[in-house]
Formats: sequence, structure tokens, C-alpha cells
Amino acid sequence: MAKPDPDALLRQGLARHQAGDTAEAGRLYRRVLALRPADGNALNLLGQLARAQGDLKAALALTGRAVALHPGAPVFLAAHGATLAEAGRLDEAVATLRATVAARPTDAVSLRNLGQALAALGRTGEALVPLRQAVALHPAAAEAQLALAHACREAGLREEAAIHARNAAADPALAGQAGFLLAALGAAPAPDRAPAAYVRDLFDQYAPRFDDDLTGRLGYRTPAALAELLRDSGIAVDSSLRVLDLGCGTGLSGVALAPFAARLEGLDLSPRMLAAARARGLYHALHETDLLDALPRQPGAWDLIVAADVLNYLGDLAPVLPALAAALAQGGTAAFSVEVGEVAPFALGPGLRYRHQPAHLRGLFAGAGLSVLAEQDCVLRQEQGQAVAGMLWVLRRQG
Ligand SMILES: C[S@@+](CC[C@H](N)C(=O)[O-])C[C@H]1O[C@@H](n2cnc3c(N)ncnc32)[C@H](O)[C@@H]1O
Repeated sequence: MAKPDPDALLRQGLARHQAGDTAEAGRLYRRVLALRPADGNALNLLGQLARAQGDLKAALALTGRAVALHPGAPVFLAAHGATLAEAGRLDEAVATLRATVAARPTDAVSLRNLGQALAALGRTGEALVPLRQAVALHPAAAEAQLALAHACREAGLREEAAIHARNAAADPALAGQAGFLLAALGAAPAPDRAPAAYVRDLFDQYAPRFDDDLTGRLGYRTPAALAELLRDSGIAVDSSLRVLDLGCGTGLSGVALAPFAARLEGLDLSPRMLAAARARGLYHALHETDLLDALPRQPGAWDLIVAADVLNYLGDLAPVLPALAAALAQGGTAAFSVEVGEVAPFALGPGLRYRHQPAHLRGLFAGAGLSVLAEQDCVLRQEQGQAVAGMLWVLRRQG
């Protein structure tokens, strides 16, 4: 029998890959590697399959090996840099992507990835350079337009930000996110909530760095503060309650809630945040869903529902509070934080989170049949050196 030809197998793998048959593509790439272990293309493509499946550890090992075996090859550098960025290894991503664009200055996707990695590191001024180059190379690329719009907003370049947000809005897939950014710039009315796709992408990107950033740099301690307020309100810490953690994120809130729970479930929009929560082994179940979709499906199901640093991604809480009340058993407890502001009923803040007016919220609680057990002013976190003012509430569903 003739020996299989690795080049032919690679071509077949690529054809299956492009047709969406990832299982067969992976099998063919592995056959190439069995015949030719240093085949950079097979390593790189297998790495891209792993990345698309969310296995960033495997993806990094594969793309990293392609780069190590073929140093300086721009295609492999580009894929490895993008994967490093997705894994939150931002300094390494910047170095790798800088090497990529040095070798291939017109690689608009790598320029965008470089700009986004720099922006995520807070190096906004530097980020503007590759992002502007990416947009100049491909003005129709809406993702680059949106990334540049965000970087401009962070750099205080509001007019330039609005121009690029409008350009991004031409793509129907990004119109919601671009419109949200325009609203934060004051160039469009604030929608009732942050688009789910915006929240999902934001937290998917943030997931690898979330815990370190929040508990370290940003001084976030809302979950512990809510747990303390629950205890002060007489909620027993005796592992007896059915507890739902809305917007559970990576599970920092689950850590604080576990001592109350006989059963602890979490839900979130972001698969990457949920994967980090799953890795803690704390939750009995985790669900990828929007809280506004999930709550109406669970009437009377929970003794305690908590939303730590979540309701600030929703503007209009009028539909949320009755849904929350209805998902509680009679006498059940809700606890959450909000960012506070003067404008009624809510306003979209510069950080793209909503601020709620406490007096308006108290009216909504009463309308939803929720009575106040405790409320507390607090500092939710630090942002650009400024304290973010918030409030914590503990409410009871009236019988
Ligand atoms: C700042 S994090 C807080 C995570 C966690 N509660 C904690 O205290 O660490 C906000 C989380 O809420 C999630 N989120 C925001 N809006 C949501 C919605 N409408 N439905 C479900 N999850 C949402 C986000 O995906 C994100 O993971």
C-alpha cells in the first residue's frame, strides 16, 4: 500500500475544516503530525481547532510549538499571539503580535489584536496606533472600527470614538454594541439594558484576568459585603437554602454564598466566566443564560437569589424586580448591589455600566412585593483611581 502523503492529508484536513467538519479535520491534522511531527501548519491548524473549542491550554501548546519550530513565521506568530491574548496572557500577546506585525505590517487582524491587547493592559495611547492602522487598511472591518471606538472613548477622544462607533454600526452583527457605545458617549439615547452580546464578549475576554484584577487592583469585595449584610439581616448561615447566584461570573460570589446553601446554582451570559466558575467545584449547576430569560421559568424555586455587581448591566429594572420576586419562595430573600446615581430612573455611566437612583428603586421594590430588610451605602470598587459609589440591598418577598 502506498504511504499516505502528508501534504494531501493537510489539504483534505483544511477542506474539512473549512466545511465545518472539525472532528474529521482534527483527525487528518493528527495523521499529518504522526507522519511529520514538526509540520507547523498541522500544529497551527490543530491549535486553531482547540481554540475554537475553548481549550486554550491545548491551543497554546500547539501554536506555541509551531512558533518554536518555525521562529519568525508570521502566520504562526499571528495565531499564537491571538491565542495568548484570548488566554489573558497579555504581555506575551503584545510581544508576539508586535513580532507578527513587524514581519507583516499589513496584517489588519493582528494589528487589531495587538491594539485590543494593549487596550486591555490599560495602555490606551499605544493601542490607538495599531487600531488606527487596522482601520485604515480595512475600513469595512467593523470589529476593528468598534475596537478603535472603545479605545478612543477610553482615551477621551469622544468625537473620534463616535465616528468609529457609527462606522461599526453599519454591520448589523455589531449594530447593538456600537449603539450602546454611542449612548455611553451621549450621542444616542441609552437603551434599557446593555446588549447581551456586549456583556458576553466583555466578560469572555476578561475571564482569565477577572479574579486577580477585581480582588487586587480594583479592590472589589461586594460578595463578602453582601454575605455580611445577609447575616446581619438574620439569614442563617446553616447550609439550608436553595441559592441562585445571578451573573455568577467566575464564582467569587459563589464563594461568599456557599455557606448559606444546601443547593447553589449559578447563571451567566459568558461561557468563559462560567468555565472558571465550574473549575471552582462550588456550584451544583451552572447555566449559560440571560437572567431575564431564566427567572420567569423558575416560579417560587429559590430561598435566596443574589446578584453581585450584575444589575448595573441592566438599565430598566422595572421588569427585573417582579421576575426576581416571582422566582423566590414566599418569605424568600433577594440581595444585590447597584451603582447609584442622581438621574431617575437610571443613567448610563462613562464606564458603560448603569447607575440607578435609589428612590426610584425603592418604588420598584414596593411594586414587586419586596420589602426592605437592609440597605447600605458602599464603595463597590475603584475605577481609574476613583471610588465607585453603590448600594447593597437585602429584600424579602412578602407572603
Ligand atoms: C462584574 S461580574 C460579577 C460576577 C460575580 N457576581 C462576582 O461578584 O464576582 C458581572 C457578571 O454578570 C454577568 N451578567 C451581566 N448581565 C447579565 C444578564 N443579563 N444575565 C446573566 N448574566 C449577566 C456577566 O456576564 C458577568 O459575568
